[in-house]
Amino acid sequence: MSKSRLIVLISGSGSNLQAIIDHIDAGEINANILSVISNKANAYGLERAKAAGIATAIVDHTQYDSRELFDQSLAEIIDQSSPDIIILAGFMRILTETFVMRYVGKLINIHPSLLPLYRGLHTHKRALQDKTTQHGASVHFVTPELDAGAVIVQGVVSIKNNDNEETLAARVHQIEHIIYPQAVKLLTENKVELKADHVYINNQLLQQPKQYYLKK
Ligand code: GAR
Repeated sequence: MSKSRLIVLISGSGSNLQAIIDHIDAGEINANILSVISNKANAYGLERAKAAGIATAIVDHTQYDSRELFDQSLAEIIDQSSPDIIILAGFMRILTETFVMRYVGKLINIHPSLLPLYRGLHTHKRALQDKTTQHGASVHFVTPELDAGAVIVQGVVSIKNNDNEETLAARVHQIEHIIYPQAVKLLTENKVELKADHVYINNQLLQQPKQYYLKK
């Protein structure tokens, strides 16, 4: 089977990008990352991409007068590579409906919560404030409503009594690095599809996303 063509969008550290690079290098994901695009020039993920020999681009959102113009530029760069899958990996910009609908079905995101819980920002803080016992991350298809697209896979971590935002975020990151490559692998193998806002795996409607547990 030919290699899937991936584009990864980042805004920061890029540890999820790294996890995907590592799985490709290990031969577990049959894909090439064509480019890594950041909206921030100082994103450390750009260094990770360069170290892996991947092309990089910066589309600085502060240089655009509107979300529409920023998204248009982003789309122009993306379309130069005709990717099969566009991966948001810590990309911290809200995308316009026009952009999302252009790529719907091949645009995925990882969000640091067990969706539908805690859409939006500060998810670790909110989970701690609520004194919930479990938290985690979700990989989902991106649809126009923020963090509301169908979930493909989730990673669950237990919240410990002495957790703070930092310790909790670190464990959520650990499980993210397991589930995001799994989801990307399924997509590259054409095993997962978005149809009418639902996930289908091997042509079967996914009733509940598969959940991975961090054993610590
Ligand atoms: C990850 O925890 C990801 O879930 C989160 O940003 C972090 C990026 O880390 N994404 C969002 O909050 C999206 N709304 P990374 O740059 O080390 O991969």
